[in-house]
Amino acid sequence: METLKQATESARDRYVAANPLSQAADRHAEQFLPGGNTRSVLHYEPFPLTMVAGEGAELVDLDGHRYVDFVGEYSAGLFGHSDETIKSAVTAALDKGIVMGAPTSYERELAGLLCNRFPSIEQIRFCNSGTEANLMALTTARVVTGREKILVFNGAYHGGVIKFPNGDSVHNVPYDFLFAEFNDTEGTADLIRRTGDELAAVIVEPILGAGGNIPGSREFMGMLRLVTREIGALLIFDEVKTARLGPSGVQGMLGITPDLTTLGKFIGGGLPTGAFGGKAEFMAHYNPKLAGNWNHAGTFNNNACSMAAGSAAMSNIYTQERAREFFDWSENFRISLNDMFATRSVPMYCNGMGSIFAIHFSSKPTRRTSDISTGCQSLRPLLHMELLLEGVLVCSRGDLFMSLPMTEAHLSTARTALEKFIDRYRPLISMVLEVA
Ligand SMILES: Cc1ncc(COP(=O)(O)O)c(C=O)c1O
Repeated sequence: METLKQATESARDRYVAANPLSQAADRHAEQFLPGGNTRSVLHYEPFPLTMVAGEGAELVDLDGHRYVDFVGEYSAGLFGHSDETIKSAVTAALDKGIVMGAPTSYERELAGLLCNRFPSIEQIRFCNSGTEANLMALTTARVVTGREKILVFNGAYHGGVIKFPNGDSVHNVPYDFLFAEFNDTEGTADLIRRTGDELAAVIVEPILGAGGNIPGSREFMGMLRLVTREIGALLIFDEVKTARLGPSGVQGMLGITPDLTTLGKFIGGGLPTGAFGGKAEFMAHYNPKLAGNWNHAGTFNNNACSMAAGSAAMSNIYTQERAREFFDWSENFRISLNDMFATRSVPMYCNGMGSIFAIHFSSKPTRRTSDISTGCQSLRPLLHMELLLEGVLVCSRGDLFMSLPMTEAHLSTARTALEKFIDRYRPLISMVLEVA
């Protein structure tokens, strides 16, 4: 039997042969962009595909291949690549003036839509990205409580300078972070209580995204609410990705009200934005009409295109009803893949919820980051390459994000590609997992 290394190299050779123009473009870009790259997550070996066009849920690369897009712009691409409602909203906004330098009706409409949708968000402020939203939420918590420590989870990602793949990161913001294990209810409760009145906030993704799309258990998330309240720390839900799940995000599903919530990605209809919001008593500090208010600046906080696109997207496309339907449809797909893996007796599992999940090489759900085996990690590049070669674009780290324009035909393409992968590699997968 060929080894994993041989199989991965052979897949890469086929990929290189099929993508000469993307390879040349990547090489050329190296002159001005380090490694040809300006967004780390988009790099993978041997080189990433250069995309030239998108339509609905499909993308076309420089060498002319068409893909079903399950990268979905890491969840921001919920509306696909060519939604007419969003395009018209942006065009209308551009026609009226590109930069206003003043409040507009766009951000007011979007603010109303989001506050009405997420009960925990009584008031909201916009910024330019999810990273910025989290920085603002953490800053708010530190100043509100007068405390310094922030509890985060191993494997969490809250932005380019707030990421914890393996503990702290060298170029994270220099906050006083404490680390706990996601889904470790007892250990985390204990750490929160021990830190007591030094703890400003706990920030948590209801689904640990980059850490493997691991949903927080009801017990764990409920404990975070109770124990933070007990010691007077703020609970921040980073729903930058997960707010799209169901009518009011995972907080709605769990019936938990965090003190602050951060949003981003899809709420701008696919255009850049971010937002943080929560209890009016905290957000009131940003009220410029009050003495002693805190300044929150940002030239593009209310940029017309993002605000207009977001407002059109949230009112005319992704209504709460549509979000509910989309959740059910995508969750059925995720479950159907898990059924298919079980029927074929292959140790693979789609971990996550609804339209956000990741393929793990394991026969059961992953509950902790420490459950992810080295075998699982080492099989991912092979799966990634083989799916690309079948016209199914997924994230190199194994995530899939579904989008609204997807059809049953798109899902069937992905299922068939996965079946082909399993038929070809099942013995290799078992061998790698046994050895690891
Ligand atoms: C959970 C989560 N929070 C925050 C961010 C940061 O958002 P942005 O890339 O818009 O800065 C991301 C981005 O992937 C994310 O997944």
